[in-house]
Amino acid sequence: MSTITVHDKTFSTFLSAAEINKQVNRVADEINRDYQDKCPLFIAILNGSFMFASDLFKALNINAQICFIKLASYQGVKSTGHVVTSIGLDVSLKDRDVVVIEDIVDTGKTLHEFLPQILDQHPASLKLASLLHKPESLKYPIHIDYLGFSIPNKFVVGYGLDYDGLGRNFKEIFQLSA
Ligand code: IMP
Repeated sequence: MSTITVHDKTFSTFLSAAEINKQVNRVADEINRDYQDKCPLFIAILNGSFMFASDLFKALNINAQICFIKLASYQGVKSTGHVVTSIGLDVSLKDRDVVVIEDIVDTGKTLHEFLPQILDQHPASLKLASLLHKPESLKYPIHIDYLGFSIPNKFVVGYGLDYDGLGRNFKEIFQLSA
């Protein structure tokens, strides 16, 4: 097991690049199967989902579009409970099959606030793909249609996820050491 230091904290290897790749491809297979005669619009939530969104999108063999939106509900290792939209959606969602791509669902507050904004635009359907989910910390009723991994309630970095701006570049996911 390898460890990394990000700012003042030590993290240990948790999910290898091969394990992540396997689950991303499995999720892509599920989406390919469910949307084979459709042209879904993926909305990737920046910053954290950029690696997952990229690998997932490359593994799709259907007609599909992608756009990006920026929201924030996190600073440091504790949720601020503050959700901000800083890059708006510039594509019409009306009658579209929308799939939101998130890096991690923690308390669920971010999506609890964001998904109604999508539904307001009357998409034909709305589904959620998330690489990670911490079921123990969920406080809002969020259903994940396409999930990579359920993980324990410990802070993680890597593969797009950060701790105060650092750690996104690793191809593995690391977990905060006890
Ligand atoms: P939620 O609103 O509590 O579900 O938080 C979702 C957002 O918080 C994610 O999109 C991440 O940006 C961030 N987040 C939650 N848990 C972690 C973590 O363990 N590592 C890095 N970011 C996290």
